[in-house]
Order: sequence, then structure tokens, then C-alpha cells
Amino acid sequence: MTNIQSEVKRRRTFAIISHPDAGKTTLTEKLLLFGGAIRLAGTVKGRKSKKFATSDWMELEKQRGISVTSSAMQFSYNDYKVNILDTPGHQDFSEDTYRTLLAADSAVMLIDAAKGVEAQTIKLFEVCSLRGLPVFTFINKLDRVGKEPLELLEEIENVLGIRSYPMNWPVGMNFDFKGVYDRKREHLELFDKNDDNETRKTISIEEAIANNKITESDYNNLLEDLELLEVAGDDYNIDEILQGKLTPVFFGSALNNFGVQTFLEEYLDIAPPPRAYQTQKGVIDPVTNDFSGFVFKIQANMNPAHRDRIAFMRICSGKFEKGLAVNHMRSGKTIKLSQPQQFFAQERDIIEEAYPGDIIGVFDPGIFSIGDTVCYKGDFEFSKPPQFAPEIFARLINSDTGKYKQFQKGLHQLIEEGTIQLFKTIGASEELIIGAVGQLQFDVFKYRLKEEYGADIIFEGISYQMARWVRSNNPIDLKSLDMLGSKPAYDSDNNIIVLVEAEYVLRWLKDRNPDLEFFSTSSEETFSNIS
Ligand code: G4P
Repeated sequence: MTNIQSEVKRRRTFAIISHPDAGKTTLTEKLLLFGGAIRLAGTVKGRKSKKFATSDWMELEKQRGISVTSSAMQFSYNDYKVNILDTPGHQDFSEDTYRTLLAADSAVMLIDAAKGVEAQTIKLFEVCSLRGLPVFTFINKLDRVGKEPLELLEEIENVLGIRSYPMNWPVGMNFDFKGVYDRKREHLELFDKNDDNETRKTISIEEAIANNKITESDYNNLLEDLELLEVAGDDYNIDEILQGKLTPVFFGSALNNFGVQTFLEEYLDIAPPPRAYQTQKGVIDPVTNDFSGFVFKIQANMNPAHRDRIAFMRICSGKFEKGLAVNHMRSGKTIKLSQPQQFFAQERDIIEEAYPGDIIGVFDPGIFSIGDTVCYKGDFEFSKPPQFAPEIFARLINSDTGKYKQFQKGLHQLIEEGTIQLFKTIGASEELIIGAVGQLQFDVFKYRLKEEYGADIIFEGISYQMARWVRSNNPIDLKSLDMLGSKPAYDSDNNIIVLVEAEYVLRWLKDRNPDLEFFSTSSEETFSNIS
């Protein structure tokens, strides 16, 4: 096996999808602990303060106590190199999460045992499912009162529409949680809430009964459940897991570090290595193609002392070496990727080399925008992540005309980062309209323009409620979109979009313009860059 083959084979890149408070931060920390990436056993108690310390790039995070930025971290476990892509917990940043999932090969779905499948999980799961990503489920907080395991599996199946295969099964729930039965190894993993270090205590069923670790009734219930699973449950099927049709389910407690190690080991064993990406010039193979990657996130001013801008790149093929000169496909320029960084828990290090599946942060001199392809020799481009129709709109006004330059620069850079969407209306007077999924995106945008660029803006309320990208095989007559209650505009890539005040206006536009097509995403090949 060549070096690159073995490097690709041992890599796993995933994102955690969950509803806020399900325990994503806690689980991430425990996983990092196993990887030795952080040496802080029991950090969770001081988690809140640590959370701010690791990501205090944005004062706003402190004020609001939510994580609005996302990053990537790498750790090693056994012979594996694992990349965890962090996704923002807040639903207003769902586009950011979508783009992050484009850079992942699998997803870990974290569910709170007491709450079951929640709203944000449903949204994120849909993205995974449309993209055929394998999804691994961890049902968390088993140490507390929760729903019945069978009820949880039913919810996963009914609400999300994915079949499941429990890899382990809880014994004694609700304050009397004894542990989980490992269906593959046919032993029990005992829960001890006073022990949150990583030692696993496994024991045979017979021994557990003999030593009063579980009661006769625990045993009978377990047998009953296992029988039910055998008869009525799905069979274990690796192909279906890899196609995202079946999710392996693990029960545990992240806070108590229970079941996390088994989950990690099984995940690494089953989950796919870095995949091939589809492009208009064919499939890009991680091993045989030269270096290529795409930008899925841009993070400005991560370190206020340096005022730098980092472009996060998913490596799709070939070996990356520090200082590599690559083609930036959109501009046609050659760029030297100097000071490539990788992120290890709280630290970032300059790296010498990286491989497919890895995420590197490269210094961005203002050239990158989301979705850009870089490659060493090829002349292909990965498809750009689509933009989604925003749900709230405002007219953007630069309130300090003396700071026009700062305003322009900030606006340009924040749009490239994908912070919000900008539209320029077409017509007698050009207006700047911004759109977002949620109010928080507006707040972050305004805050950053002020803090990072010194520009003051005002949002003026407008009555638009929807936006649709307009496409047609014939030239589009813009006047046909300029009606009472609708306005044509260009998005930041100069695609035509129409802003409308209400659903009925959109229906009316469709009726009057049968040759036009209206889309809620900026590109039709939304989910096509999977192989
Ligand atoms: P998030 O990133 O998904 O938003 O969740 P996070 O890890 O911050 O966890 C949310 C809350 O759930 C935290 O409690 C955390 O301690 C708790 N938690 C996580 N895993 C488990 C578990 O396995 N069992 C139990 N019982 N609780 C768990 P908090 O009170 O909000 O924060 P803190 O004061 O404990 O830091």
C-alpha cells in the first residue's frame, strides 16, 4: 500500500448533528480526551468558561452564550486520524452547518434520551439524508430519566424515516441504569456514575447476575427486548449503513464518559474513509488524483491580535505539503498555501503535510470565497454549496457616509464568508437588501461590521417575505418580475432572484410567466457532489 493509500484509509471525518443541549460539547470533549488531544479529565464542570476561552474570537459569543462559529479539530486514536467538524448549535446558522456537512464523510447524530428527536436534529438530518451521508446515532444522558429505548428507536424511524440497528441495549433505565449490553461482543458494559474516567468495565451476563450487578428482572427484561429486536428489528447491514439507510445506534452518557469509547471504536471500524467527489470533469479520487480541496468556511479575525482571515479547506485528493503552490480555479491565479494550520482542541499548529479528509486552515489574503476549488494540477471545480432562500429581509443602509470604504470592504468580506446574503435590486434605484435565515445572523453581521471594520449600518424593515431564484431557457424579461409586491434583484454571484411580499404574489408571478422557473436554492445541483 502506498503512503497516500494508507493515510486515506485511516482517516475519518465527521460532523456532530444535534439539537442544542443534547451534549455535543460534552461528547466532543470526551472524544478528544480519548485522542489525548486535551489533558483535562473532568473538564465538563468548567465547560462554560472553557467554551468561551476556546472561542473568544467573538465577543458576541460571550454575550449570548452560544457558539456562532465553527471549526475543525483533529485527534489520533489507535491508528486512526479523526477529524471532527464542529457545527454551530444555533439554528440561525443552518447554512453554515450545511456547508460543513459538505466537508464530512459521515455524521454523528446525538439525541437526548429524555427529549428524543428534536427540531434542529430533524433539519440537519434531512441534509445528511439528501446527501446519502452515513449517520451514526448516539443516544445520550442514559444516566437520567429518559424515554424507553424502543420508543426512541420508533421515533428515529417515524420522524426521520431511517431504520436503525441498536449496537447495544440499556439495562435498567431511569435512575436504575446499570449499563448496556453489547450485542456484538455479547457482554455487559457496566455503568458507574462515580467514575468518569475512561476505563471500561465489561463483564459477562452470568457474572453480572452472580455478582448482583444486575437483577433477575433486569435480565428477563433484557432477554425480552433482545428477542423483540431479533424478531421485529432490522438486521445489521454494513452496506445499508454506508448508504445512509440504516443507522447504528449506541446508548450512553457523554457526561459520565459511559459508552463513548465503545462508540468511538465501532464508529472508526464502520465509518467510511474519505470519499471521492464528483465534479463536472469526472470523479476525483482521493488517492490517485493530485492535491485538490475546496473552501467550506471562512473565519475572519479568529485572533483579534492578528486580524487574520482563515479559509478552511477540506482536502479531497492527494497529499498536501506546506508551501504548495496551487491553482485557485475561480480566479485562475496561482497561490502559495503558506502557513497551513490544523486545529487540535484549543491549539492551532502549523503543519507540514495533510491528506484527504483533513481540514486545513490557510491564510486568506482576501482571495477566497466559500465553495472555491484549489488544485495542484487539475482543471476541475467542485460544485459550489448552494445558497438557500432567506427567510427574513431588511434594507441595508450605511449610516456613516464618511466610512464608505470601511462599509464596502466589510460588506464584501462578510458576504464572501457567507455571513448573510446580499441582493441588489434591479430597477430605477438600486437598493441593497440583505437576507438571512434568522435574526441572529443580522445581529452578528451588524456587530462584526462595527467591531472589525468600523462601519455603522441601519437595517430598515421591508415587506419582502420570500426570495426565489429565477431561471429560464429564454432571456428573462426583468420587467415581468417588477410588479406590485415583487422586485427583481441580483444575488452576490449575479444570479437573478425575485423578492416577493407574499406567497400569493409568487403564485401570481408563476401564472403570468409560465416560461420561468422559481427555485428556493441558488443551484439545482444542490446535492450532487457526492459519489
Ligand atoms: P450542547 O453542546 O449540545 O449544547 O450540549 P452540552 O455539551 O453543552 O450539554 C448540555 C447540558 O447537558 C450540560 O449541562 C451537560 O453537562 C449536560 N450533559 C451532557 N451529557 C450528559 C449526560 O450524559 N448526562 C447528563 N445528565 N447530562 C449531560 P448544563 O447544566 O447545561 O451545563 P453544566 O453546568 O453541566 O456545564
